[in-house]
Amino acid sequence: MLTIKNLTKTFDRQNRHFDAVHEVDFHMSSGDFCVLTGPSGCGKSTFFHLICGITKADSGEIFFDGNDICKLSDKELAKLRAEQISYVLQGDSLLPNFTVLENICLPHQLCGKYDNLEEKAMELLHTFGLENMANDYPSNLSGGERRRVAIARACVHNPRLIIADEPTSDLDEENTALIMTFFQQQAKQGKGILISTHDLSCFRPEMIRFKMEKGVMRKA
Ligand SMILES: Nc1ncnc2c1ncn2[C@@H]1O[C@H](COP(=O)(O)OP(=O)(O)OP(=O)(O)O)[C@@H](O)[C@H]1O
Ligand SMILES: [Mg+2]
Repeated sequence: MLTIKNLTKTFDRQNRHFDAVHEVDFHMSSGDFCVLTGPSGCGKSTFFHLICGITKADSGEIFFDGNDICKLSDKELAKLRAEQISYVLQGDSLLPNFTVLENICLPHQLCGKYDNLEEKAMELLHTFGLENMANDYPSNLSGGERRRVAIARACVHNPRLIIADEPTSDLDEENTALIMTFFQQQAKQGKGILISTHDLSCFRPEMIRFKMEKGVMRKA
């Protein structure tokens, strides 16, 4: 599903160049549940941004189903993100002026997807224990509730690869377990799941673990 070769991203800070992601090789197949750990600032989010095409790599290749993402136009990348690769951002990402249900459905409806979307969104809200919040606005939700809505938005349209940047950082133990079980089920259905975390309690035996340090990644 995803094969990455020799991926490097360099940033500049105060006239100093440094590799936030340094010559990374990575592979995952459909059905894999991969978890990336590493200290703050080691390059996890940058790595995810490169896979989604939000940030352009300086060198290297990212093959998704055999096609090099680095060679796609912005329009092709937007289509890939809308349909196949879904990303749950590290921070708050809900639109404040839209309800929970609208937040989950609108981005996909704008891309022309309507099939049973609201029904599927309600199913996910139910799975995540949020079914009575569908018509609430994000400001009336807790951080952990907003995080679960963002995960529902990323999964409602059945993408093939779900990337989630610290998806459990706002969640208590019970909801962490709920989200991890949900991701586990998605992987069993053949999705690729790639998450980052600082939360050791979310590890499951079947997860494939990777560690990043100063932009260098290795299997843990
Ligand atoms: N646009 C940018 N310009 C310059 N430096 C950046 C930029 N984005 C990130 N960095 C730097 O690149 C490094 C990697 O950042 P990144 O956000 O990928 O870390 P992270 O592993 O996700 O950290 P955390 O666990 O805190 O989320 C950090 O030193 C960060 O300051
Ligand atoms: Mg990060």
